[in-house]
Amino acid sequence: MQTIATAYSKFILSGEHFVVEGAPSVVIPASCFSTQVSLYDQETPEITAICNFNCGQPGLDELRDTHEALVKDLIIKSAQILGIDLRGIGLRCMVKSSIPPGQGAGSSSSLSQAIMEAMMRHFLADDLHPNYLRWFSTQLENKWHGTVSGIDNAAIAYKRIMFYERDKTTKFIPLGSPMFFVVGTTGPRSEIDPYAVMRGLKQDQPLQYIAHHKAMSENAVQLAEALQHGDTLRVGALMNESEDIYETCGIVTKAMQTACQEALNQGACGARMTGAGGGGFVIACTPISRIEDVQMAWFDMGLKAVSILNFGLDRIR
Ligand code: MEV
Repeated sequence: MQTIATAYSKFILSGEHFVVEGAPSVVIPASCFSTQVSLYDQETPEITAICNFNCGQPGLDELRDTHEALVKDLIIKSAQILGIDLRGIGLRCMVKSSIPPGQGAGSSSSLSQAIMEAMMRHFLADDLHPNYLRWFSTQLENKWHGTVSGIDNAAIAYKRIMFYERDKTTKFIPLGSPMFFVVGTTGPRSEIDPYAVMRGLKQDQPLQYIAHHKAMSENAVQLAEALQHGDTLRVGALMNESEDIYETCGIVTKAMQTACQEALNQGACGARMTGAGGGGFVIACTPISRIEDVQMAWFDMGLKAVSILNFGLDRIR
């Protein structure tokens, strides 16, 4: 028997880090990158994993053994969560992914969800509501990484633009008009550990941290409204505002700041870091007429995985 499951990536537009503490946030799904997991029964009673990461990032091939060990471990963890007894079972897991790992596009959540979906469909049930996928893949990611907010898992499971608050009902945002985003990565995190920076800020400058928390919460609420009204200029302005907040927090690298500024120079309405920060993806809300200019500028600056996300041209969600 063979089972295949595919999970998209995501990009956050407001609320990173603060969302873990219950602040509101806004996230969009991204079909331009994905993870595919194929499970095959095999005669030898063991779990084997084969990984093929195809996101154009040098150095990933050397990490193949590490990734394969990780995938094997995630299969075992997912079986524990689902109550599946793997003793005596032979399973081959092939993973293909085009998501640059650890750069803000949700590679971990996408892998968690594709593994969970494949395991659930292979062993338990064929037709799965996204609620199950979201819940079980969040459990798997928690087991892997420690507690996550669940925002990435929700966006990947529902494939919708969402206003997200932890432990509350997730609201889908219907777009008031088509909207376009350009994304690109400045490369893997190296200089800054954004999680450590945010922890340090909370501990050493608590009042400043609370102010950022409040400003970001308000930003997410207003951004959801602007998306719903189809007000692209306001969406852009709010993205710039949240970028400023994260720059003040100290989790936006120089390369990310320069890329955001260049997108604005090329006519984007707004541009910001996305994901945990400290390197990785930036995202620009861009009028359709300026998409190529932003893309070309980012290619010229050496950004990788430069891609377009369009929402609402085919159908407004
Ligand atoms: C990572 O995509 C988003 C963070 O807010 C972590 C989380 O929400 O679990 C940094």
